Amino acid sequence: MLGHVARLSKLPLNYLQNRGGIWTGRGERNYKVTVVGAEGGIGQPLSLLLKQNPLIEQLALHDVIEAKGVAADLSHICTPAEVSHFRSEELLEALQDAHVVVVAAGLPRKPGMSRDELMAANASVALTVACAVSIACPEALLAFITNPINAIVPMAAEFLKAKGVFDPNRLFGITTLDVVRSKTFIGKFMSIDPDLVDIPVIGGHAGITILPLLSQCYPKFPEAEVEELQRLRQRIQEAGTEVVEAKAGKGSATLSMAYAGAHFVNALLRGLDDEEDVLECAYVASNVAELPFLATPMLLGPNGIKQNLGLPSMNEEEKAAFEEMLPELRDSIQLGIRSAQTAMKDIQQEDNASEQIPTNKRASQSE
Ligand SMILES: NC(=O)c1ccc[n+]([C@@H]2O[C@H](COP(=O)([O-])OP(=O)(O)OC[C@H]3O[C@@H](n4cnc5c(N)ncnc54)[C@H](O)[C@@H]3O)[C@@H](O)[C@H]2O)c1
Repeated sequence: MLGHVARLSKLPLNYLQNRGGIWTGRGERNYKVTVVGAEGGIGQPLSLLLKQNPLIEQLALHDVIEAKGVAADLSHICTPAEVSHFRSEELLEALQDAHVVVVAAGLPRKPGMSRDELMAANASVALTVACAVSIACPEALLAFITNPINAIVPMAAEFLKAKGVFDPNRLFGITTLDVVRSKTFIGKFMSIDPDLVDIPVIGGHAGITILPLLSQCYPKFPEAEVEELQRLRQRIQEAGTEVVEAKAGKGSATLSMAYAGAHFVNALLRGLDDEEDVLECAYVASNVAELPFLATPMLLGPNGIKQNLGLPSMNEEEKAAFEEMLPELRDSIQLGIRSAQTAMKDIQQEDNASEQIPTNKRASQSE
């Protein structure tokens, strides 16, 4: 991925490379980050990592289950970020003045669960958060962890559009875990520090829609090992299932996702801080290919996406894999848009119905 940017910007690779753990910002602390779903398996370790971020001044925790205990616990850690917590009905207050909203709310995938079943379970999260963001902090950067990312992000975009506040540069599906896993598995395979590996991961965030571009990997693989690379790609694509099965019904990836989420939030904050060459892959609204949402490498800046770097170079085999996954990704995008439209129609009908109830009946109904 960095090789791609270096070629674009004519900068030496190691000028761009960002290593050494999660925190690499300049350390000017003045941002508010809200974690929605802070009590959960991802939400708790994510909040723990964010409490240590030198760029964060206020860390607001929200969940439908009260996050009071998590907030009290985190607030004893000797870092300056102020931790606050908000009850279920206090989402608007939690979001007030937030610069970044990261959404780790929703059901994790269970073994055998289909994408549509997961979508049915988590669509209300996208609806609730997008509506609240449109009221409380429409200029915040909104980053979803909630699965299925491929459908949830288009769904949230549709709500934000309906509310008249959609900015394609400010809405993200976090796919960083795919990059983190790629770096780890490739680093192990090559017997090098995984943090030295750079690789763009494009497409989406489920199965074959996750496309790590091994031909663009830095450092480069020897030609002879191409078949091994294909096996590696399959492992990266199925890594989520590896964790779901290992946890045997007790959830999906939480700790590695918290690491990936904290890394991505830090990148968003570094972009807000106007740091140069903040480069990440994420699933965003896009016009670089035929689909309206796609994960690609991008530069982040003070307004979210500074520049979508588009599709990196691909070899013939990767081009074929890219073409092969497009129908699945298209279906997920359509599922997200359809779900949003149905939900908005239902809300409209409920509003109309309540307007038609005579005032005296409405009063007695609300008692
Ligand atoms: N993007 C990725 O790479 C990735 C990786 C792993 C998991 N996930 C997804 O992240 C989500 C969370 O996973 P988890 O393992 O932490 O689940 P979890 O069940 O442990 O935690 C979810 C939390 O969300 C809260 N919640 C539910 N609805 C809410 C709402 N409307 N508002 C506020 N809080 C709400 C719950 O009370 C719970 O505390 C799942 O959808 C999972 O599939 C994404």
